[in-house]
Amino acid sequence: MTVQQSAAGQQSTIIPFSVENSRCFFHTCRTYLTAEVTVKHSITELVSRMTLEEKAGMCSGADFWHTKAVERLGIPSVMVSDGPYGLRKQDLQADNIGVNESIKAVCFPSGCLSTCSFDRDLLRLEGETIGDECQAEDVSVLLGPAVNMKRSPLCGRNFEYLSEDPYLAGQMAAAFTKGVESKNIGVSVKHFAANNQEYRRMSVSAEIDERTLRELYLPAFEAVVKEATPDTIMCSYNMINGVYSCENKWLLTDVLRTDWGFDGYVMTDWGAMDDRIEALKAGLDLEMPSSGGVTDRQLVQAVRDGRLDEKVLDTAVERILSIVFKFTEGRQPGDFNKERHHELAARIAENSMVLLKNEDHMLPLTEDRAEHILFIGGFAAAPRFEGGGSSHINCTKITSALDAAKALGLNVRYVRGFDAEETDDDTLLNEAVREAQKAERVVIFAGLPDSYESEGYDRKNMNMPQNQNRLIQAVTAVQSQTAVVLHNGSPVEMPWIHSVKGILESYLAGEAVGTAQVNVLFGRTNPSGKLAETFPLRLEDTPCYLTFPGDGHTAEYSEGIFTGYRYYDTKKMNVLFPFGFGLSYTTFSYSSLKLSAQSITDSQTVRVSFSITNTGATAGAEAAQLYVSDRTHAAIRPEKELKEFGKVFLAPGETKELSFTLDKRSFAWYNTAIHDWYAATGFYDILVGSSSRDIRLTGTVRVTSTAKSAFRITRNTVLAEITDNPITAELCASLIKKTSAGFGAGDTQQSGTSSEAISSEMIQAMLDNMPFHSVRSFCEMSEKGLDDLITKMNKALS
Ligand code: BGC
Repeated sequence: MTVQQSAAGQQSTIIPFSVENSRCFFHTCRTYLTAEVTVKHSITELVSRMTLEEKAGMCSGADFWHTKAVERLGIPSVMVSDGPYGLRKQDLQADNIGVNESIKAVCFPSGCLSTCSFDRDLLRLEGETIGDECQAEDVSVLLGPAVNMKRSPLCGRNFEYLSEDPYLAGQMAAAFTKGVESKNIGVSVKHFAANNQEYRRMSVSAEIDERTLRELYLPAFEAVVKEATPDTIMCSYNMINGVYSCENKWLLTDVLRTDWGFDGYVMTDWGAMDDRIEALKAGLDLEMPSSGGVTDRQLVQAVRDGRLDEKVLDTAVERILSIVFKFTEGRQPGDFNKERHHELAARIAENSMVLLKNEDHMLPLTEDRAEHILFIGGFAAAPRFEGGGSSHINCTKITSALDAAKALGLNVRYVRGFDAEETDDDTLLNEAVREAQKAERVVIFAGLPDSYESEGYDRKNMNMPQNQNRLIQAVTAVQSQTAVVLHNGSPVEMPWIHSVKGILESYLAGEAVGTAQVNVLFGRTNPSGKLAETFPLRLEDTPCYLTFPGDGHTAEYSEGIFTGYRYYDTKKMNVLFPFGFGLSYTTFSYSSLKLSAQSITDSQTVRVSFSITNTGATAGAEAAQLYVSDRTHAAIRPEKELKEFGKVFLAPGETKELSFTLDKRSFAWYNTAIHDWYAATGFYDILVGSSSRDIRLTGTVRVTSTAKSAFRITRNTVLAEITDNPITAELCASLIKKTSAGFGAGDTQQSGTSSEAISSEMIQAMLDNMPFHSVRSFCEMSEKGLDDLITKMNKALS
């Protein structure tokens, strides 16, 4: 290690690059190293030279998008920008929702679509590309990815969020984050946590029990923190169990830093700050955007009159400055090749779109008969490809399906069909029906208008506009060869599902939407996307139908751990399309499931491998999914939970092996008695399939728990629990025998009506459900004797 003067005149610690020290605290100097960057500031020393006012100021924004500079100490101001799926960089005058002032940038597919790729490499590449753009545009932190769970299909921001499944969301977000951060650009993983609705998002309290938080609403953040070490986290607006996220010490310190090891800084969502002093104490570092100095002065005052320890402030400043200097000292040449990035946006979209229906092989369409193909619907000419609000990109270029078809020399015909404003227009409808009769194949480009879903409000229902439903029914009445291409950020009800032959879900596919759609429709790209969320038959079927979005003050997450397929599959309900579902122009077979062990302890891993063969005539990719089903009955659990996935590209006839490693977490549930993950001893089924409802291979593994038992005996522990546990069963064997006898079990003297009324099954059930304190009623036992035995059992258990 050497020490040298930095450009700004401070002494800097230089640590030679190595994998071990590539991300560590060293004498409280947070050291970031990449292949190019080794020069670091001694942050602690720098902070010691700042005035109290400068430190308080550093912990809130200079304006909407910048941190503050302290020129006398050489501390620069850096910019942060939305995010997540393209760069929304605004100038200094811009407000946070004015979209027109942002620079021209490339709009990549929204999270609702790109997650359907089930392809970590693709998401990493997207992250790298946006990271390059940030370098080119001098943006230090990208505000995203947005990884909140899709609790209800109605959440207005579902288009930005990734999945109803926390494992899938976490893995895809971690891949994206690794990509962005490989370019020395930070991300801000948002909105931490439980921002699952837009209604009253700035004040509502999400009422969620500990197990549900740990199993559903936190793991996507946890995966990004643990696997991709993001630079920043953005806390959510809402409260969790009555405490604003920005003031929630349990969330921001106990879970985020102590449990998961996060070492970056936490910023507020824009305007989320309530009590700045409490927030700082809880672990919130940066208030965004700016408070105009008001809350900075509150901090200064709080330190002066002893309500806030200055060290807490110092720590927050150190965290912020570490990321600021990481950026300024890690500058790389940017790359903002808009044409190339537009092509990548098309590639991501076409490898994510989900073919939901393809009856009688209506798709792919044939290019040499393109003039007999009719495109209907304004979205073919002016597609909806991104959502509204802070993620809205000012696009460089938009390619519609008509543009894309034309570019390929395909002379498809086109009529508008319906009015985007949702009014019934019989002239447009009649023209569409007339033209559809003449065509050989029809593709209707339908979907939700911008006004239906956006940041800021939730949908009221899952309906498509009525005039579009009417058009689809009218066209399919005269033309059986009809497919629908959907543009939407979240599931819709499809009253016309049985009348159409094909459905391509293109979600909000980014600015190259048309290229991707045409490539898939004409078979230039074989669709391989799988749904990252369930499409329910109707809104009333959704697990939180009765409680979403709550009464305006609280949102009770009473469905607990049962959301999405965890709910539908456990209840064996019919759905429109299941989680993980998507068709291809080829077929795949699954075979040769192998487990590296039949039995493991929870500190060991098991390797699961299997083969996939492309059994069709077209090259294509398959996203295979591995679910675990807990057969131990130690806790109430969903019928199955996704624990791994992987995508393979296969030529016709080709076979490849996939191999996944499962560890304790793959089997565990969050046990609130021990406040930790716990995999009970017993059998677990391994289910490998093409979707959550199409399991092709099944195996079983036994897991033995090495965790210290959380089982404790109290006066109310029932006898069945005592006899189930070998340790307590042995200690109580004679007592239980006596109790059974006293209770009449094994009494063969009973006859006639009494034996009919009191069966041995009944006696056993009553004994099983008897609390321990009741044994005194059936065998002689003193109060002290009872307490002594409880103490003895607990000693033996610990
Ligand atoms: C959104 C954030 C966004 C921020 C800045 C907020 O309203 O919730 O996701 O990053 O604005 O635009």
